Amino acid sequence: MPSILVVDDVPSNLELIEAIFLKEGFKVHTALEADSAVETFINTHIDLAVLDVMMPGTDGFELCARLKKISGNNFFPVILLTALTDRKSRIKGLESGADDFISKPFDATELIIKIKSLLKLKSLQEELDHSENIILTLAIAMEARDPYTKGHSSRVSKLAGDFVSYLGLSERETEEMKKAGILHDIGKICLSTSVLRKPGPLTQEESDMVKKHTVLGEEICKPLISMRKILPAIRNHHERWDGTGFPDGLTGNDIPLTARILSIIDTFDAMVSVRPYRGRRSSALALDNIEAEQFDGQWDPELLKYFLNMMRPLVMKGHFSYG
Ligand SMILES: [Fe+2]
Repeated sequence: MPSILVVDDVPSNLELIEAIFLKEGFKVHTALEADSAVETFINTHIDLAVLDVMMPGTDGFELCARLKKISGNNFFPVILLTALTDRKSRIKGLESGADDFISKPFDATELIIKIKSLLKLKSLQEELDHSENIILTLAIAMEARDPYTKGHSSRVSKLAGDFVSYLGLSERETEEMKKAGILHDIGKICLSTSVLRKPGPLTQEESDMVKKHTVLGEEICKPLISMRKILPAIRNHHERWDGTGFPDGLTGNDIPLTARILSIIDTFDAMVSVRPYRGRRSSALALDNIEAEQFDGQWDPELLKYFLNMMRPLVMKGHFSYG
């Protein structure tokens, strides 16, 4: 049974809406002002809120923004109930994060339809988050099969996110980059542990199998709409600037930016991680090695310059510890 929070400073309005919602089979929580609404919201499971805009003290706009902030990344639908139909109020409502409006005096049928449609959106969103979480968890679990790669994707994710925000890209792009970092090697889930853990050189056949993790990773993530943006990063993170990489042999700027970023971070992490055949390299030494190889054709030289510029001071000041 969906649980709705209704906030209005006029008790008779609350009673009216409550009666309509109960008839519809919703569970109803009511509040006469913002603070008790927030308290109910924190302590109770609420699926959606209907807020009156004009209230003394904290108004509906502000309360909406507070509830959205508390919800964080979880989608929490809010409908504003307002006598204000002017453009300015609508914009203010949208700025506060409101998902829909309904004008007073309201039409009960319209309100119920809007609520049901937002609840459906919420349940679809939750399903999607659930599927996404399963894949993210699988990526972490997969790495744990091999002590030498344990934690690799989480570290790559963190550093790739830091780098993207250093480059001045948006918060959304930073989040996408972090997700791509976690998932870039998810295709390795299809490889046997004997190949993954093999200490010696791989046969041609084994090496071809390992290379397939790029396209397999893309296949695994493709069904989820929320992953679409990061598919190029997964597919192309082993391309080389000079065109000799895989799976598509792309060259230079034809390689998606996210893949060019991952390629640098992936190598850096591999260098500072312990491998069966060698111990850990220091971050400073890894940066020296990358810099020495900067014109060898593996990476985007300009991007690499930015990466070194970001990392050098952090490593020198000891603000960067790894592994
Ligand atoms: Fe990879």
